[in-house]
Order: sequence, then C-alpha cells, then structure tokens
Amino acid sequence: MNQLLETSAAYLKCANKIVVFTGAGASSESGIATFRDALTGLWERFDAQRLATAQAFKADPSLVWGWYEWRRAQAQSVLPNPGHAAVAQLGRLVSKITIVTQNVDSLHERASSENVLHLHGSLSSPRCFECAIPMDVPDVDGYNLGYGSRIEPPVCPECGGLCRPGVVWFGESLPLDVWEAAVAAVAECDVLLSIGTSGAVYPAAALPKQALSSGAVVIHINPNRVAVSSENEISLVGKGGVILPQLLARAFN
Ligand code: OAD
Repeated sequence: MNQLLETSAAYLKCANKIVVFTGAGASSESGIATFRDALTGLWERFDAQRLATAQAFKADPSLVWGWYEWRRAQAQSVLPNPGHAAVAQLGRLVSKITIVTQNVDSLHERASSENVLHLHGSLSSPRCFECAIPMDVPDVDGYNLGYGSRIEPPVCPECGGLCRPGVVWFGESLPLDVWEAAVAAVAECDVLLSIGTSGAVYPAAALPKQALSSGAVVIHINPNRVAVSSENEISLVGKGGVILPQLLARAFN
C-alpha cells in the first residue's frame, strides 16, 4: 500500500491537469448514505422506481418531493469531511483541476472547491416539472422528516406546474453541457482520481475508462479494492477522508 501511495503521489506531483471524479462514497464520512453499500445504501433500503423516476413523481408527487426534501435537509445539516477538504486543497495546488461529481449534496462547494461539474444535478436547484424554470424553495426543517414524509411540492408561479428536485432521475439524460465539459476535461487530464464510486451507473462510469484510453493515469480510492485492468491504473484501498490527505501530504510536502 505504501508503495502504491508513493507512486500515486509521484503521478499527482507531476500532473498539470487533474480530474477528480467523485461518487457517494466521497460523502459517506460526512454521514450521507451511499446508494449500494450493503444494508446502509439508499437503493438497498428504498425502491428507486418509486422515488427516482419521472413516472414516480407523476404518480405520487408528495412522496417523491418529501423524500428529496429529507435528503436536502440532511445534506444541509452535515459538514464536508477531510476528503472534501483535501480535494479543495488540491484545487489550490495544481494549475488545472476539474471536479466531476455524481453527488447532489454540494459538499464539494461547501468545502470551497470551485469548478465543480454536477453530472446528476443538485438537491439545491429545484425547478418546475412542467416548464423547467428554476424555483426558489425555502429550506425545510429536516428534523421530523424521513422516508414516507409526504410534502406537497411548491407550485410554479409561471405555469402552475409542480416543483421537482434538480437531480437527474433514472431514464433521464444528463445535462448535455455538463457532460460535454466533463468529457473534455477527462480527455486532456494527466491524472483522474476516482473517489467513492461503484462504477455502476453509466454514462458517468465510463469516465475513468475514457481517461485511461487517452493515456491518463487513473487512481481509485475506495475501501473496497477496485479491479484494475491497466498498468496506468492504481487501486488505493481505504476511505477517501483518510487516503486523500495522506496522498496530498506525500505529493506536496
Ligand atoms: P454507490 O453507492 O453505487 O457506490 C459508493 C461507493 O463508495 C462504493 O464503491 C463504496 O465502496 C464506496 N465507499 C463507501 N465509503 C467510502 C469512503 N469513505 N471513501 C471512499 N469510498 C467509499 O454510489 P455511486 O457510485 O455514487 O445516481 O452511485 C452512482 C449513482 O447511482 C448516483 O449518482 C445515483 C445512484 O443512483 C442518480 O441518482 C442519478
């Protein structure tokens, strides 16, 4: 492990352009549940088809809105963890960094990272389900919220449609401009750090492979060993909030 950490640090030190690609595991040390970890993952406990599709919202808007308001309140109530802080620090140390996140919790921004591409949208940018205009929604007190907390979605002042969360649901396309910016950053990076993702959801999961095929080094950070298929790929086994600070200390001190 030490040798892999040293090798990764050497790559990081020489890199001019870095992409940090994050998934739910990057926020788990903040207390936000991942999706697929056994027992605790959201999709292990809740039915995605009843909560994370446009059809589900049409069928039961207050159940879906209530679930996302619970998640929004939770995201607002936790703090960025040392992994988020290390990513923000990396942004101040290298000439070009792009953060590509699948997470909707805005914890990278709260840790003061800039240049964050949200592939799957954000809990803090709700919009009208019908006409898509952004809607300003007051914060909720999440204390009493949980699964099954029904909340009526606010009504759009422009068209009378219902407000929906600003996230990408199953069956929906990623925002094209964000996806294209991510692909462009990946195509020109020297190192892609992939932190806390199972690689189960496409097209996001294609980005590390795309980085490898354009000659970049890919470094995975995950408590579960990630299978590597190339000599340019490294799996660092551990939590993001532990490994990332170690990596930065070795690369830049
Ligand atoms: P998953 O829940 O699929 O995977 C989380 C990964 O994080 C797993 O590989 C864990 O081993 C790892 N992990 C857990 N704790 C960690 C820690 N402290 N440090 C580093 N890694 C850790 O989450 P995603 O890959 O993000 O999409 O899921 C992808 C997409 O599926 C999500 O964006 C969401 C979901 O459906 C949408 O909502 C569109």
